Amino acid sequence: MKIVFATNNPNKLKEIKALVPKHIEIVSLSEIGCNEDIPETGETLEANAFQKVNYVKEHFGYDCFADDSGLEINALNGNPGVYSARYAGPERNADANMAKIITELNGCENRKAQFRTAIALVLNGEEQLFEGKVEGEISLIKLGEKGFGYDPIFVPENETRSFAQMTMQEKGEISHRGKAVRRLINYLSSL
Ligand code: IMP
Repeated sequence: MKIVFATNNPNKLKEIKALVPKHIEIVSLSEIGCNEDIPETGETLEANAFQKVNYVKEHFGYDCFADDSGLEINALNGNPGVYSARYAGPERNADANMAKIITELNGCENRKAQFRTAIALVLNGEEQLFEGKVEGEISLIKLGEKGFGYDPIFVPENETRSFAQMTMQEKGEISHRGKAVRRLINYLSSL
C-alpha cells in the first residue's frame, strides 16, 4: 500500500515513516512530482487538511493524508487558530508571532489555550479525520529554547515547563500532533 503524506517537511516525514508498519509505503509530495504550493484557504484546520488531501487525490490520483495544526487561545476567541503560522505577518516569524500574543494578553488573567491537530486521510475512496489536542496556558514570558513555533510560551496542563523546555520525546507523548499521529498509525496498522 502506498500513501502520500502531503508535506515537504523532512522532519515530519521521517517521524511518520519510523512509526508506520512496513507494508505501508509513505511518500512525500516531491516524490510524486508535486512541487507546487497546495492551496490552504480553509477557515478551519479540518478544512485545510481536507483541501490538501483532495488536491493530491484529484491532481495526482494517490491516496493521501495531510495535517494542519494551530494554537487556539480562549481570551482571543480561538485565535490565532488556523492563522497560527502567519499571525504577525506573511513572513511566518515565530518570535514576532509570540510577541504579538504576549502583547494581546497583557493584563489578561484568562491565559487558557490549546494546541490542536487535524489529520485528514483519503484512502480507498473514504475520508477520515484524526484529531489530537492538548490544553494548557500561555506563559507571561518565553520559557526555554527547544522546539519551534509557539513552544516557548505554551505550558501544557499538569506541567510547570513549556514545550520548549521539554525533549522532543517528552513533548511528543502529550502533544496534539503526537496524539493525532498515534490515532492515524493505529488505524493504518489495523488495515
Ligand atoms: P502546521 O500545520 O503543523 O504547519 O502548524 C502551523 C503553525 O502552528 C506552525 O507554523 C506554528 O506556528 C504553530 N504550531 C503548530 N504546532 C506547533 C507546536 O507543536 N509547537 C509550536 N507551534 C506549533
